[in-house]
Amino acid sequence: MCGITGYIGFRQAYPIVIKGLQRLEYRGYDSAGIVTYNNNDVHVIKTKGKVSDLVEAAKTGSTTGTLGFGHTRWATHGVPNDVNSHPHVSNSGNIVIVHNGIIENYDSIKQELITRGYTFESDTDTEVLVNLIEDTKKKNNCLLGKAVQIALKNVIGAYAIAVFDKEKPDEIIIARLGSPIAIGIGEDNNEFFFASDASPFVEFTKNVIYLDDEELAILKVGREIKIHKINDDSPVTPYVQELQLNLEEIEKGGYEHFMLKEIHEQPDAIRDTFRGRLLVNEGIVKMGSVENHLAKFTNANRIIIVACGTSWHAGLVAEYLFEDFTRIPVEVEYASEFRYRNPIITRNDIVIAISQSGETADTLAAIKLAKSKGAFVFGVCNVVGSSIARETDSGAYTHAGPEIGVASTKAFTTQMTVLALMALRVGNAKGTLSQSMYQNYLQELSLIPDKIASLLKQNDHIKEIAAIYKDSPNCLYLGRGFNFPVALEGALKLKEISYIHAEGYPAAEMKHGPIALIDENMPIVVIATRKGHYEKVVSNIQEIKSRDGKIIAIVTEGDTTVRDIADHVIEIPETEEAFTPFLTTIPLQLLSYHIAVMRGCNVDQPRNLAKSVTVE
Ligand code: G6P
Repeated sequence: MCGITGYIGFRQAYPIVIKGLQRLEYRGYDSAGIVTYNNNDVHVIKTKGKVSDLVEAAKTGSTTGTLGFGHTRWATHGVPNDVNSHPHVSNSGNIVIVHNGIIENYDSIKQELITRGYTFESDTDTEVLVNLIEDTKKKNNCLLGKAVQIALKNVIGAYAIAVFDKEKPDEIIIARLGSPIAIGIGEDNNEFFFASDASPFVEFTKNVIYLDDEELAILKVGREIKIHKINDDSPVTPYVQELQLNLEEIEKGGYEHFMLKEIHEQPDAIRDTFRGRLLVNEGIVKMGSVENHLAKFTNANRIIIVACGTSWHAGLVAEYLFEDFTRIPVEVEYASEFRYRNPIITRNDIVIAISQSGETADTLAAIKLAKSKGAFVFGVCNVVGSSIARETDSGAYTHAGPEIGVASTKAFTTQMTVLALMALRVGNAKGTLSQSMYQNYLQELSLIPDKIASLLKQNDHIKEIAAIYKDSPNCLYLGRGFNFPVALEGALKLKEISYIHAEGYPAAEMKHGPIALIDENMPIVVIATRKGHYEKVVSNIQEIKSRDGKIIAIVTEGDTTVRDIADHVIEIPETEEAFTPFLTTIPLQLLSYHIAVMRGCNVDQPRNLAKSVTVE
C-alpha cells in the first residue's frame, strides 16, 4: 500500500507529481506529501488527508523545481497525521525519502541511532530508514547511492523507496524489495519518472522499466539509468518495455465514479479477456500458457487456489468450475492462512494464484512458499508486469484494463472468465467434458458479455431498491452452489463501500444461525436462479418471509414463483448454471454502489481500505 511517484528532468515537477499522486490514491489516502528541490532549497509539504488537502496546503509554500517526489499513504506505523506523513527528512535536513512498505526491524535500528545522537519526530519506520542512510553515509564517507545500498542490507522488511540528497542534487536513488516500482524514461534520458505503477507518467513516455526485487537504480538526467543488485553490487542491464496503457483507461470517462465506470466496462472487459482465447467458430479455447503445461493440468492430483479479498471469491467460483468440468479436487485458501500453516503440497499439485494487482503481499508470499515446495504455480493477474505475474511459473492475464475503484468489480468477472476458460480447456483435454457439452459451454460463455450489457439496463430499478434499504444497519446475502461465492462477494461489496454490516452465507446454512437475526427490518438478498437448487432456495425464501424479513431476490427471467413471495426481484438472463455468477454478481455491484452513493460515502476510496495491499 501507499503510492510513491516522482520526477527529475526539465519540466516543473510539482504538477506532475500531484497528478501522479491523484492517480495513485487508490493505494492509500490517509495522508500525502511532496518534496521539491530548487536552487539549493529543499521544500517539503505534507499533510493528513487526501492529495486534494496537500494541494491546499501547498498553496502557501514553494513548489518550484525540476526535481520532486511525493507520497500518498496508507498508515502502517503511526496514526495518519502531518508528522507521520511522508516525505521524511534526515536529521541534517539533507536527505529526503518516500517509502512504500514496512521496515520490520526499525525499532532496534532506532534505538541504536538514538544512542548515536539521532532524534525522531514521527512514529514511522521510514524516518528511521532515512537517518540510517544518513548515518551510513557519514560512517562510510560515501556517496548517497552506496549509503542507500549499505543501509538496505541492514533492514528487514519490504520497500519501494526514493531518496534524494541535497549534496548530490542531480540524482534520485530508487530501490525495491517486495513493493513495486516502475521507472519511465524520457527521450535521450532527458527526464525520468517513477511511480508505484506506471499510470502517473503514461502521457509522458511509453518506455518503462519495472525494477525487480533487490535492485537499486540511479536516475541522473542525461545519463543512461544505472541499476545494481543491492546485495552484491552487480550491474543489471535495464530491460526497457513498452507501456501498454492509455490515458483514457485511467480517467472517469463521464461516469461519476470509477466504480460505476468499471461496472459498466464489464461487457467489454470480458470480451478483451476472451480475445484470441475463446474461438467459438473453431470450437476451441486457445490459451498458450495452459497449452504449454497441459499435461501438468490434466495429470494434477489437486489444484490449490490462493488469493485474498474479491480474488479469493473468484477462486471459490473456480472451485465449482474446475471440479465440475475437470473432476480435479480443488482447495481454495486465503493466501494469508496458507503461507503460515505449513501446507502439504506435492509436485503433482498445481497452485493457482489470483490477484488483480499482482502485488498482494500475502499472495506473493504464498506463491514463494508453494514454489519452494516444488509446486507448479500459475498466476491469474490483471496488472501486466506485476510482481505476481513475474514470480509465477506461468499465467494468464485477465486484460480487464486498469481498475481504480478500490472495490473490485471488473477484475472479479474477468478473473472468473480466465478461470472458466482454463477449466473448460482442461476438462476438454481430460475428457471429463464431452465434446458436445464443451461446445455448448463455449457458446454460452461467449454470450455472457451481451447478457451483462442487457442486465446493466436495470440500473434504475436497482437504484430504486437501493433507496429503500440505504439506511439498514445490516444486510444478509444468501446463495447456493455456484452462487454461494457470489453471496460472499455481494456482502463484501456492500460492507466495504457503504459501511453497512453485511454477511454472505450458503442459503441452507441460514437456519444454523443467521435466521435468528431476521425480523421486519432485515433486508436479505437471495440468489434464486432457476438452475441452482432452485426449489431449496425457494423454501429458504419462504422461511425468511414467515419471519417478516425483506427479500430482494435475484431470479432468472420470467420467474413467477419467487416474484409472488419476494419484496423485490431483479431478473437475470438465462444461462448455464456454471455461468450464473457472471450475471448474478452485476446487480449486487450496482446495489452496493447506489446504496453507498446515497449514504454519502466515498465509493472509490472507502475508509481504511487500499486497493493494493503490499503489507501483511
Ligand atoms: C484489497 C482490495 C480488494 C482486493 C484484495 C486482493 O483488499 O481492496 O479489492 O480484492 O485486496 O487484491 P488483489 O490485487 O490481490 O486481487
